[in-house]
Amino acid sequence: MLKRPKIAVIGGGNVGASCAVWAASKELGDIIVLDIPEAEGVVKGKMLDLVQCGPIERFDSKIVGTTDYADIAESDVVVITAGLPRKPGMSRDDLVEKNVKIVKSVSENVKKHAPEATVIVVSNPLDAMVYTAWKTTGFPTHRVVGQAGCLDIARFKAFIAMETGFSVEDINALLLGGHGDDMVPLPRFTNIAGIPVTQFITEQRLQELVDRAKVGGGEIVKLMGTSAYYAPASGVIQMVEAIIKDKKRILPCASYCKGEFGINDLFVGVPTLLGAAGVEKVIEIDLNADEKKLLDESAAHVKELVELVNKLDPSLA
Ligand code: LAC
Repeated sequence: MLKRPKIAVIGGGNVGASCAVWAASKELGDIIVLDIPEAEGVVKGKMLDLVQCGPIERFDSKIVGTTDYADIAESDVVVITAGLPRKPGMSRDDLVEKNVKIVKSVSENVKKHAPEATVIVVSNPLDAMVYTAWKTTGFPTHRVVGQAGCLDIARFKAFIAMETGFSVEDINALLLGGHGDDMVPLPRFTNIAGIPVTQFITEQRLQELVDRAKVGGGEIVKLMGTSAYYAPASGVIQMVEAIIKDKKRILPCASYCKGEFGINDLFVGVPTLLGAAGVEKVIEIDLNADEKKLLDESAAHVKELVELVNKLDPSLA
């Protein structure tokens, strides 16, 4: 019998609930959102509220809020959003101590209840939390991946669209590196409908947009006192859709590198072929010396964070 895809989202906060909204609006499958027992009423209420959008938005997905991990059984994709968000003045790295515990405990349950799923991690500090989920689940590297690049590049594209007035749909761009302020947008690979972006924006202005994208998360934290959620969730669902529909999209994801870009045994943002198997390939590109230096610096920062995770919880090392 045919079966609808099943998507589980762990953490029913702003990012988790927004993932459910985007997934439902695209009718990607049945959706389970799981939260801690203290939030049972809220997660059940939010999902019941979303169910009631179905007749208007025209989706037939089964949507359930739960606190019971047994409900994530047979999920095709599990999204981990659980963890604390940033507050003003905090860097993503400041969350590592608390979130490593949360992501580890969630991952133990994912391993137990959804051992065949592909896991997408969104919790911060992102690259180190992907590592934590990978180590804890023991899943093969193609079934553990992080969402950050889809968000970061969407921010950059949105800024270019705002600047030029062209459709967001015609803006193509590429970004590498960790999900920190040292992420690496690549102006050289940015075009508008195939036309080099420098035909429309000066190099200096483009650099300003790059710099704004790099601290785009912090800009929102400063404005509203907590971390962004619509666009992070939208980035996740772009990846979920690529996997569930086996679209073979090339998206910037935190994927496991074993030699690609000279990076070894580290999850870091790289162009990734996403399909039914999860991460089907890391796509390498030739970087010039400046771009390579920026990527190396970003990867070195991710490595430091992973070392910190291993120090905080030696069982992961
Ligand atoms: C951001 C958070 C989700 O960049 O890391 O908005």
